Amino acid sequence: MRILVLHGPNLNLLGSREPEIYGSATLAEIDAALTTRGQALGVEVATVQSNSEGALVDAIQGAQGSADGIVINPAGYSHTSVAIRDALVAVGLPAVEVHLSNPAAREEFRHVDLVAGACLGTVTGFGRDGYLIALEQLVARLRAR
Ligand code: DQA
Repeated sequence: MRILVLHGPNLNLLGSREPEIYGSATLAEIDAALTTRGQALGVEVATVQSNSEGALVDAIQGAQGSADGIVINPAGYSHTSVAIRDALVAVGLPAVEVHLSNPAAREEFRHVDLVAGACLGTVTGFGRDGYLIALEQLVARLRAR
């Protein structure tokens, strides 16, 4: 089983970016934790970060035929991107959305999430652990199919 993990804009800055909100883990540390958890679960994990909406859409389209499911933190695009939502619906792969912070407890513009409805579920507010929860839940649901 192969899982694609997609990180959206500004997540390459994790570690130094507003650590009081997003935590001190770097993206490399999060990716390493995902790879290790993937090995424990017996699944292959590939990770991609992009600041570009189009590149994220391309990666979602590219997952068709090469991945069994997607974990995605669309970051700022969560609140604006019809294109990312449409791409997830179009490829039809099971996806779980992650946010390090809890957008519902933040500014009002973060309360709208256009991507969430294209996902099996969303994990918010648990920092780095949220990615691991998302991976575990996605794998469990794929295995139950
Ligand atoms: C985020 C929350 C978004 O509102 C924000 O734009 C991000 C990160 C999170 O992981 O908490 O860039 O997706």
